[in-house]
Amino acid sequence: MWTIVATWRMSKEGIEKGAEILKEKGSALDAIECAAKVVEDDPYYKSVGYGGLPNEEMEVELDAGFMDGDTLGFGAVCAIKGVANPVSVARQLSEKNVNCVLVGDGASQYAENHGFEMKDMLTERAKNLYRQRVLEMKQEMKAYRGHDTVGVLAVDSKGSMGAATSTSGLFMKKKGRVGDSPLVGSGLYADSEVGAAAATGIGENLMKGCISYEIVNLMKQGKSPQEACETAVFELEEKLKRRNGHFTDLSVVALNHKGEWGCATNIENYAVSVAKENEECKVYHVHRVGNRCEVVEASKQWIDQRVEE
Ligand code: GLY
Repeated sequence: MWTIVATWRMSKEGIEKGAEILKEKGSALDAIECAAKVVEDDPYYKSVGYGGLPNEEMEVELDAGFMDGDTLGFGAVCAIKGVANPVSVARQLSEKNVNCVLVGDGASQYAENHGFEMKDMLTERAKNLYRQRVLEMKQEMKAYRGHDTVGVLAVDSKGSMGAATSTSGLFMKKKGRVGDSPLVGSGLYADSEVGAAAATGIGENLMKGCISYEIVNLMKQGKSPQEACETAVFELEEKLKRRNGHFTDLSVVALNHKGEWGCATNIENYAVSVAKENEECKVYHVHRVGNRCEVVEASKQWIDQRVEE
């Protein structure tokens, strides 16, 4: 029984392509890479891949991670530039025993030397949004809001699992800033004997809780994916509030090895996309209700608007 789930509405088209692979008894790893690449290639989404918003020097620096739940192989690229599909580079690195995480120029050079597609990832639209933000920041520094990472999880018909993430990170971040997405245990984790999880939100906070590992560990202790997600998000939020005084967006998705999924958020407008064997792909809104989350199927009209959540 296969399942593929991912963060945000932006992953829907990718999930549908990934589901085609799983339907044909393809692997979870091929399906998650395919799904993440569809989002990376879409210039409409401003927080992943081509069309992603730049750092404060108007450069698009991308982060991606990839984990094989069978072998625990992990690969990542951080602050990579000029590469069309960072998730594919991360996947290739996950197959190696050393040099699995590459940063900056080293990551870009590796991609170029190994035949990955090189591409200028800064679009005219992203440049205009950058210039607009420079003007706004002269008046007032606005807090970052909105969606960011595509995190994809899958279990295939053989029971193998994987997790992938890809993001352009925070708009106007410092050059070289790295978020949670390419960090194992924070942005993503996968263990085919238990389950997988991925995170989206403010990386600086998500990484303080190693939240993806925490969710997989909670599932290992017997919690359902939904219980594990809610527990991890609200415990981390409470801890950050009490000990640090500062917390922001924390959103997650999880999948167990039986194909059951869950999600949680502490913001108002989170969404996840899900495709399962014998079911068409659906998108769900996730609403916080106290320290629980309500998960409600999105209407076709809302999905078709392709709103940027
Ligand atoms: N969650 C993505 C980032 O903080 O960069």
